[in-house]
Amino acid sequence: MIGKVALVTGGGSGIGRATAIKFASEGASVVIGNRNEKAGQETVDLIQEAGGKASFCRTDVTKLEHLQNLVKYTVDTYGGLHAAFNNAGVHDPQAMTTEQSEETFELLMDVNVRGAWYSMKCEIEHMLENGGGAIVNNSSAAGVIGFPGHAHYVASKHAVLGLTKTAAVEYAKQGIRVNAVCPGGVETRMADTFARGDSATREYIKSLHPIGRLAQPEEIANAVVWLCSDEASFVLGQGINIDGGLTAI
Ligand SMILES: NC(=O)c1ccc[n+]([C@@H]2O[C@H](COP(=O)([O-])OP(=O)(O)OC[C@H]3O[C@@H](n4cnc5c(N)ncnc54)[C@H](O)[C@@H]3O)[C@@H](O)[C@H]2O)c1
Repeated sequence: MIGKVALVTGGGSGIGRATAIKFASEGASVVIGNRNEKAGQETVDLIQEAGGKASFCRTDVTKLEHLQNLVKYTVDTYGGLHAAFNNAGVHDPQAMTTEQSEETFELLMDVNVRGAWYSMKCEIEHMLENGGGAIVNNSSAAGVIGFPGHAHYVASKHAVLGLTKTAAVEYAKQGIRVNAVCPGGVETRMADTFARGDSATREYIKSLHPIGRLAQPEEIANAVVWLCSDEASFVLGQGINIDGGLTAI
């Protein structure tokens, strides 16, 4: 990734932070687009302390003008945009389908689906004019199978795969590769809130994974950066399951 420029939405924590660090360690300049400035700046500091290049641009992925600004900021700061990880996401509190709220539905569709679409729209518009690029969206194992109690999250992550496959075939001939990662449980703040601080629930979630543990964020980051590299030049329209065997059962 030497000489390449990457952006990461939701890069202030978890999988996004690990991926931003990985991009930078492979020689890319990285822009962190995050709603939370303090967390985003912490990722920038970590990268700079390790000798890498990174900047922060405050971004709420539910707002089109923020994504337009994020792409412009990236290009103005580092001279291009070659790779993007559309990772920002939120999940729903556990509730049966009949008990889920309107507010949760709107929030999840707004951040997870609209956010992925707006991100791709702005990135692709730039890449079409500038020789292509690679995009990875963060779906989930919940984009592949159902999870009782999480209808809205599952629906939003299935939608992310739909957006991924469609954009991939639309822009394949223009040198833009669009893929997704579908992680199983990953040791992040989101996994903590899924388990609601309850160790029995955490153990149950672990037990769903044949490997017997959750992933570290770096294990997802490795796949994202590979998908954005030239080594993945024939890979597009895929949702790569990185889930310790969860969806193989
Ligand atoms: N942790 C898991 O088990 C797991 C599994 C599969 C997929 N995922 C997906 O991975 C992605 C990252 O989650 P994580 O586990 O690292 O959790 P996380 O909570 O640490 O990261 C989510 C990030 O998204 C950002 N964000 C939320 N709403 C935003 C908005 N409107 N605009 C910009 N940024 C926003 C947050 O600030 C945060 O930095 C999410 O899309 C999540 O659905 C997580």
